[in-house]
Amino acid sequence: MTKNILEKPQQITFDITDRCQMQCVTCSKWKTSAADVLDKELTTQEWKDILVKLHNWLGDGFWFCFSGGEPFLRQDIFELAEFANSLNIKVASMTNAFSIQHLYERIVDSPIESLNISLNAVNNPLIHDESRGRQGSYEKTINAIKELTRLRNEKKSNLGINIATIMLPENLNELIPLVEFVTKNKINGIMFQLLDDKESFHGYIYQKDCKTGSYKMPDELRLKYQNMSKRAIEVIDRLIEMKQVGHSIYNSYEQLEAMKIFFNNPDDILNNIVCDVGRTNFAIDPYGDVRLCFNMEPVGNIKNILPEEIWVNEKSEKCRQKTKTCKMYCRLLNCNFKHNFANFNKNFFQKCMNKLIRMISGKA
Ligand SMILES: C[S@@+](CC[C@H](N)C(=O)[O-])C[C@H]1O[C@@H](n2cnc3c(N)ncnc32)[C@H](O)[C@@H]1O
Ligand code: SF4
Ligand code: SF4
Repeated sequence: MTKNILEKPQQITFDITDRCQMQCVTCSKWKTSAADVLDKELTTQEWKDILVKLHNWLGDGFWFCFSGGEPFLRQDIFELAEFANSLNIKVASMTNAFSIQHLYERIVDSPIESLNISLNAVNNPLIHDESRGRQGSYEKTINAIKELTRLRNEKKSNLGINIATIMLPENLNELIPLVEFVTKNKINGIMFQLLDDKESFHGYIYQKDCKTGSYKMPDELRLKYQNMSKRAIEVIDRLIEMKQVGHSIYNSYEQLEAMKIFFNNPDDILNNIVCDVGRTNFAIDPYGDVRLCFNMEPVGNIKNILPEEIWVNEKSEKCRQKTKTCKMYCRLLNCNFKHNFANFNKNFFQKCMNKLIRMISGKA
């Protein structure tokens, strides 16, 4: 049984479009055809209505994050941010920073308080460009980070600028330099994402319910993790040391340790962490469908059902039950992990830690 007293969600996402101008090798969202979705996306007024409904339910001061697809492809993102601000709702956004050169001033002057910019390498532009599938994206992203930081400082704005980096086989030697870059340039912080199955990052317009209970990691992905595991564990250890001396790495120590366990044996994570998204996440897709888990069926459409009713309806309860037998690994992603460390089997965690320590010291 799900805990009787259900708290309100803490991780609210507005995936305002499935559309994207990149072609990231890790993601399938860019395959969404604009022609398939443009007349189906919620209008500005519909998103405003949603903000009002959420505010009626959650009150002042809650955060939500614009994501997608690429959220800055929606021209009304600033209007929506202003409207949210007028309701005392706090706004964050993700971006690939590819097409925002003309928007720097507007972003800094807007009520967006936290901007998470995706960057997969700092020393080798090719690694970033190849992972994002578009030449020239490194240059644009670095320029966006530097210009936004400069403007933010000049205008004494409170905009938080953060970097989001996927841990790939190709960029493991870039992770430490990325942290150094963040510290040197007074960027607020960096968060590392475990590479997930790209099928989890799909256009919602095409999605059917993934068979989360019988999911099997594709062989190719499992091999990728195996090949990068030794170096990944070394690098994560160094990240932990850097965090300890004050570098601004947002991942918790617990998450970094869990990533090490994952690289040692992904299935150890599966057997020992129950995913908690059903009690924490509330993600609204471009068409108004709400999901607690991005790989499961929607639990209701917020255009015609109040969010507080969706949160406790039968479909949400069914989804919460399904999370208990889920065989997917995305519970380690930032948007899913931070709330569920309490669900980690602590004895098992200690055993894995001891095993890793023995392995690293050559006594395994
Ligand atoms: C789906 S994107 C949406 C926002 C925006 N388009 C961007 O790229 O920042 C959100 C985040 O997911 C990351 N991401 C994409 N594919 C991923 C994967 N297979 N595993 C983990 N993170 C992934 C992106 O790098 C980005 O930081
Ligand atoms: S990760 Fe972001 S930028 Fe890349 S294809 Fe997906 S939505 Fe687009
Ligand atoms: S691990 Fe969590 S977020 Fe991922 S599919 Fe399973 S229940 Fe959903």
